[in-house]
Amino acid sequence: MRQAGRYMEEYRRLRARFAFLELCKRPDLACEIAVTAVRRLGVDAAILFSDILLLLEPLGRGLVYTDGDGPVFQKPLRSGADLESLQEFATEEALGCVFEAVRQTRAALAGKVPLIGFAGAPFTLAAYLIEGRGSRSFALTKQFMNADSGAWRALMERLVGLLVVYLNGQIHAGAQAIQIFDSWVGCLAPDDYRAHVLPHMRVLFSKLDPAVPVIHFTTGTGGMLELIRAAGGTIIGLDWRADLDAAWERVGYDVGVQGNLDPVALLGSRAEVRRRTQEILRRACGRPGHIFNLGHGVLQDTPVDNVVALVDAVHELSAR
Ligand code: CP3
Repeated sequence: MRQAGRYMEEYRRLRARFAFLELCKRPDLACEIAVTAVRRLGVDAAILFSDILLLLEPLGRGLVYTDGDGPVFQKPLRSGADLESLQEFATEEALGCVFEAVRQTRAALAGKVPLIGFAGAPFTLAAYLIEGRGSRSFALTKQFMNADSGAWRALMERLVGLLVVYLNGQIHAGAQAIQIFDSWVGCLAPDDYRAHVLPHMRVLFSKLDPAVPVIHFTTGTGGMLELIRAAGGTIIGLDWRADLDAAWERVGYDVGVQGNLDPVALLGSRAEVRRRTQEILRRACGRPGHIFNLGHGVLQDTPVDNVVALVDAVHELSAR
């Protein structure tokens, strides 16, 4: 969950010299960032250094990373007619740098910890394309979905097609697990998820190489965890808004769960971090299939030493 990022001095030093997209597109730099985070934190897995929006850049909607507003599409999608103008591209040509970053990172990790590849889920990607930036209400996205369900379906199908090639490409290049980030889907009513998102997620999961586990990550979906599980995934990501034991019972013990410490806890004292960690592990009951993680990304003001203390605490408290 954003283990490499601006809270880390080593990252900020590189970021002072290179634009964010350049860090993502230079396999040697992406590799260095991912591996440095693993070494500094002592975590049990590496995550590819990249961004979910990289896949959308070749569609030609003017992706820029701004300092104040985060990522922005200068030409957002506002109607079904806009779909026609999305550019076609050859994956290997446009995104081969990501596959190369996977290969280099995997080699540099030298088998010490596994490497997780990732992508955004079709809903979260579509929402970015339509809103053009982050949003509170996602009103434009929901209006698009409600006003023209044919165009919405076409957009989701286009994104699923891209994702299948992109994620299988990462697996082929050496990713040992995949995480799919549907960070914004919690804005939807369950009925809308069921009708306009779930069928596309099913197609996506069914077309991924079954050789690797897939983590299905969402936030704010406590009102529809059963639907998230029904959509697919080997592991269901949980944010901190649900008790881990109750949520696991709801999604079923035949899938694993990932989570679910509130990232804000890492801004507090070490004793508090340890207490909350113990509580999450107690709720996991030592059952196989729990991946300890934050419920969402590390916040920018987090002291790195607190993250290290968290990793140490998880190792100590879950040792058998
Ligand atoms: O170490 C890691 O976790 C891997 C790298 C990673 C990044 N983005 C790097 C990044 C991962 C897994 C992501 C996923 C991502 N990107 C998501 C899904 C996860 C989530 O947080 O919900 C989303 C929604 C995005 C889109 C995105 N990219 C946003 C909203 C932002 C701005 C937020 C911010 O912190 O500034 C980005 C930029 C971004 N992605 C940064 C990093 C390290 C910061 C860029 C910088 O250096 O200026």
